[in-house]
Amino acid sequence: MNTLDTIHEEHATMLAIYQALGHLLDEIKAGATPDWKLLATLLDYVLREPEELHHPREDRYLFPMLSEREPASRALVERLSSQHDEGREQMGALAAAFIRYQSRGGEGFETFERTARRYAEAAVAHIALEEHDLLPLARKVLTATDLAELDRLYREDGAQPAGEFRELFKKLAHRLPSPYGFGGRPR
Ligand SMILES: [Fe+2]
Ligand SMILES: [Fe+2]
Repeated sequence: MNTLDTIHEEHATMLAIYQALGHLLDEIKAGATPDWKLLATLLDYVLREPEELHHPREDRYLFPMLSEREPASRALVERLSSQHDEGREQMGALAAAFIRYQSRGGEGFETFERTARRYAEAAVAHIALEEHDLLPLARKVLTATDLAELDRLYREDGAQPAGEFRELFKKLAHRLPSPYGFGGRPR
């Protein structure tokens, strides 16, 4: 599995998490008591994996390499990179909305929900663009040497997505309805 495959795998995990976030919002809207710990862990995941690892590493390594190898990709890369910036800003707003919701309860839900759905919608569109345009182009134009270099850069970057969110994924799998989860309650 090379770095492009890893990026694709990370996209799949991110999409599942955004889906889970939407489902938790639906539950609260329908009257469920918010599971603060689960929501906080989910937001912590979004902050630490997509926002602090996945997107910055694309900006640092994949985007410059692709721009250099294929100058026609520059407009796409610039667009994706500015989406990373917007996402980071939206994540800040989402964290603030979450804190406000936790401290004020029900009255903070509307802003939290709106901010969360907007963040997730933009993130899903961003991933779709990378899946449909960026990764196929990268697979087409990057040479075997480029891919080996990309693997090295990612490996030496150090921070690897930790296994610490495994418990979150397990909890969500029990919480989410089919086809995204087992459809039951957490055990
Ligand atoms: Fe990205
Ligand atoms: Fe990505």
